[in-house]
Amino acid sequence: METTKARFKRSETKDEVLERQKKFLFPGVLTYYDEPLPIKRGLGHHVWDFEDRKYLDFFGGILTVSLGHCNPHVNEGLHRQNDTLQHASTLYPTAPNVDLAARLAEIAPGDLSQTFFTNSGTEADETAVMLARMATGNYEVIALRHSYSGRSTLATTMTAHSPWRGLPDMTVGVRHALAPYCYRCPLRLKPETCGTACAHDLEELIRTTTTGRPAAFMAEPILGVGGFIVPPKDYFKITSEIIRKYEGLLIIDEVQTGWGRTGEHMWGIEHWGVTPDIMTMAKGAANGIPMGITMSTPEIAKKWKGLTISTFGGNPVSCEATMRVIDVIEEQSLLDNCSRMGKVLHDRLTRMQDRFPCIGEVRGMGLMQAIECVTDRSSREPDPGIVKQLFEATREIGLLIGKGGLYGNVLRISPAMTMTEPEIHQGADMLEKAFEKVAVK
Ligand SMILES: Cc1ncc(COP(=O)(O)O)c(C=O)c1O
Repeated sequence: METTKARFKRSETKDEVLERQKKFLFPGVLTYYDEPLPIKRGLGHHVWDFEDRKYLDFFGGILTVSLGHCNPHVNEGLHRQNDTLQHASTLYPTAPNVDLAARLAEIAPGDLSQTFFTNSGTEADETAVMLARMATGNYEVIALRHSYSGRSTLATTMTAHSPWRGLPDMTVGVRHALAPYCYRCPLRLKPETCGTACAHDLEELIRTTTTGRPAAFMAEPILGVGGFIVPPKDYFKITSEIIRKYEGLLIIDEVQTGWGRTGEHMWGIEHWGVTPDIMTMAKGAANGIPMGITMSTPEIAKKWKGLTISTFGGNPVSCEATMRVIDVIEEQSLLDNCSRMGKVLHDRLTRMQDRFPCIGEVRGMGLMQAIECVTDRSSREPDPGIVKQLFEATREIGLLIGKGGLYGNVLRISPAMTMTEPEIHQGADMLEKAFEKVAVK
């Protein structure tokens, strides 16, 4: 029999990749730029395209390549584990699997000490919601407007961005609370005098739109896909008290904010002095190798009902990669690096705001910084058009950045947590050049 391998030619050029992408991949999948950018290889803080053009990666593969591409310490672990044991499933405990769970118990907040491993943020969030429902015996869950949970039926229903909701609600029992989005306050209040009214509204939402017995409130410490929306200081203190008053659990989604990215703390929620009942992580966990993590207290974890397994969850190779990521975070003091580099980046972006009136707000924590673009500062009208132009201009200059926000008008900048100060300045210079090109008429 003739094999497909014998007549199959591997893609070697940009055009070959783009042709197959168009023909064989689902057309609905979002890609950046007018013409998608095929990436051929990556090393450290750079990637290269098929024409060998080099790009400084200021988005880190959606906050996932936390230590730079093909990090040698992670790769050494990957190679070793690949030659030892690649797969077992959750039916058989393995050393990398249980060791990682034990290590996570040491670094997670509060009494979060038991873990269920999956393969993605979507699955981690699904697991968290299922567990909250089983543990409380209640069903309704409250998510935040402008939040993102992933692409399963439940996660899409939890996600509160119309462009990401291809179908109407696909599961019942999900409510959406007001987002703590001060730049576009849903209550049209001023942060100085609002008394964090958006947080207090959670109680009204529970009393008016649920049975009064919610299973959980789930939130990201900083709304990532929403455009790096940073809640006010006491937001989580207020909302955690409210959800617990109604005997629901607090689920914190650290998929974007975890692993030290926000600086100073390992977990974003630690900035707000609140301890979750259930926490989810993914993205940067294994530097690009698939990994989803749901953690809870033993008391909650033991309430899981019914049989459950995950074929790939807790895969020994992924677990080894995550353990190596934790090594590097600790050994290279990356929490501190994210704080310091985040400040350098934030200062540069703020100085750009002085130059370019289309920059409505610069916000973020650590190496999670955003620029919200507007047509003019007084109306705050979102300007997705200029963001589109900035994408083409940065591509031309050799800089990768990310996009976010309900209106597609937010630039997201989230480089590897290992970035150095000269690289931060280099990326900021490139971004500033792009602004000069599109924003100065
Ligand atoms: C906060 C948050 N939660 C969950 C997810 C879903 O993760 P995944 O794409 O790995 O399924 C994402 C993905 O962007 C996310 O940003």
